[in-house]
Amino acid sequence: MKRRSSFKIMTDLIILAKEELSDLIVAVLSGVVSFLSTVGMAVSGGVLIVRTAGFIDIPFRNIIYIMVVFTFLRGITRYLEQYLNHLVAFKVLRMLRDKVFAAIRRLAPAKIESSNKGELISMITADIELIEVFYAHTISPICIALICGSIYLILIAYFSPYIAIVVLISYLIMGVLLPIAFSKWASGTGYALRLEIGGLNNVFLDILRGIIEIMQFSYRDKAVCLVEKTNKALVSGQAKLIEQLALLLGIEDAIAVITTGASLLVGISTGVSWYILLPVLLGIFFSFPAIANVASLGNGLSQSLACGERVLNLLDEEPVADEIKDGVNLNLEELTNPIIEVRNLSFSYNIEPVLVNFNLEVSSGEVLGIRGESGCGKSTLLKLIMRFWSADKGEIFICDQPIEKINTDSLWKNISYMTQNSEFFEGTIRDNLLIAKPDATDEELKTALEKASILEFVTSLEHGLDTTLTELGDNFSAGERQRFGLARCFLEDTKILLLDEPTSNLDALNENIILHALKNNREGKTIIMVSHRASSLKICNRIIQM
Ligand SMILES: Nc1ncnc2c1ncn2[C@@H]1O[C@H](COP(=O)(O)OP(=O)(O)OP(=O)(O)O)[C@@H](O)[C@H]1O
Ligand SMILES: [Mg+2]
Repeated sequence: MKRRSSFKIMTDLIILAKEELSDLIVAVLSGVVSFLSTVGMAVSGGVLIVRTAGFIDIPFRNIIYIMVVFTFLRGITRYLEQYLNHLVAFKVLRMLRDKVFAAIRRLAPAKIESSNKGELISMITADIELIEVFYAHTISPICIALICGSIYLILIAYFSPYIAIVVLISYLIMGVLLPIAFSKWASGTGYALRLEIGGLNNVFLDILRGIIEIMQFSYRDKAVCLVEKTNKALVSGQAKLIEQLALLLGIEDAIAVITTGASLLVGISTGVSWYILLPVLLGIFFSFPAIANVASLGNGLSQSLACGERVLNLLDEEPVADEIKDGVNLNLEELTNPIIEVRNLSFSYNIEPVLVNFNLEVSSGEVLGIRGESGCGKSTLLKLIMRFWSADKGEIFICDQPIEKINTDSLWKNISYMTQNSEFFEGTIRDNLLIAKPDATDEELKTALEKASILEFVTSLEHGLDTTLTELGDNFSAGERQRFGLARCFLEDTKILLLDEPTSNLDALNENIILHALKNNREGKTIIMVSHRASSLKICNRIIQM
């Protein structure tokens, strides 16, 4: 995976948030006023003590008024700062989530096929959540520390340049040295931790999917061990980060106390009168929170940047097959022969070639059967025709058009692709059928179900078309799901059908039902069917061996 420097990640993330800049500026200004008010309150307290001792001559009432004003300012601006910072952060997160979904859509299906689903899920959920730390708790603290720090130093220098130098050194240690040192220290841990969390998601998804196998085979103890091991690694990573954070907080407080002490010594030795020194020292002590916010960044930021990096990398990733938008639209009304032609096609996922100089012609109206050993590239061929992946060498033509010239949308609208695992989404049977043709009438739905030999079953259900399918359609049998999948293809009513083992997990009866449905409705359609079973290929006009 591509690694970027922390600086590059931060600038890239800021560029992503450029539309929220005005809110961010108001948040920073509120933060500045808020921190200045805290120091103002502390200094006024000091002035009040000096006034009580009778060293200066300001009316009590004025000091109290000023303190009240500072208190109100502090409350209001603190609220504004927190509100706006988080608002900006959550708006940016919404935008990032949209971008990640768009990226996955752009990269799918190749990306989804070849990556761990758990990692993708943790990227969409946890990773993006953690980037919030960067927007809400990083950009504005740095700006606030810079502005407040400068104002404090100028004010202190007005009373004593020597004390200002001492404070400047402390600010630099706290605001520059500490965050750099701690983010370097925590960066490895943060990145590793994100990977561990993605890993835990993978383990859980894997176990949920394979729960039957786990129960049936003696894999139970091993599965428990696996979860425990991943969990333990996660905790030790988190413990390390917390240790670092605790140490950091200790150092921050120590710096504030030592600086105040050192300023006292410098003040006394350079002859600053104590009624000035007392309010100044109080101000110095209370000025540190604005700078400490930057020091604490290193810890949380390392994880936030690690997430930022993963998300940015995904956004930058190039799809294996670009979506084509400025090509031609397929017109299968004017058929040419052959309708599909594959010329000298070569393809490999990694290094191992899957297809080498493969040739094929399919005439329109033909039902072509493809068989071949497991792993010889049958499914891959269909995926290449759908342009889920793009070929390394050679060409595929549909109706004389090379598929790199056909608009992806038009390609997918004109070819139905069905595998042995038709996917269903939570919703009714109607919702799941309408995916293929959103404006279909109930009549059309019923005709499609009829063609797929499943209408009778659906009408026998209590709620008919409104029966709910649970996630993945688990509450229906494999045969029923397969027939719903076929009904969807009939509803879409495309001229080309690519069927990848459409009957492989069905019994002879269900297989026959589906084959019968295909045979009776193949009028005007060109079908390529991949199957291992001779029985499935009996409806084909021609069978090739790959
Ligand atoms: N996404 C992928 N990434 C890497 N390799 C893959 C991917 N999909 C398939 N392969 C590999 O490519 C080869 C061809 O796979 P393909 O699925 O096309 O085979 P198949 O002929 O359909 O096999 P089967 O009859 O078992 O379905 C196999 O060796 C497989 O391991
Ligand atoms: Mg296959």
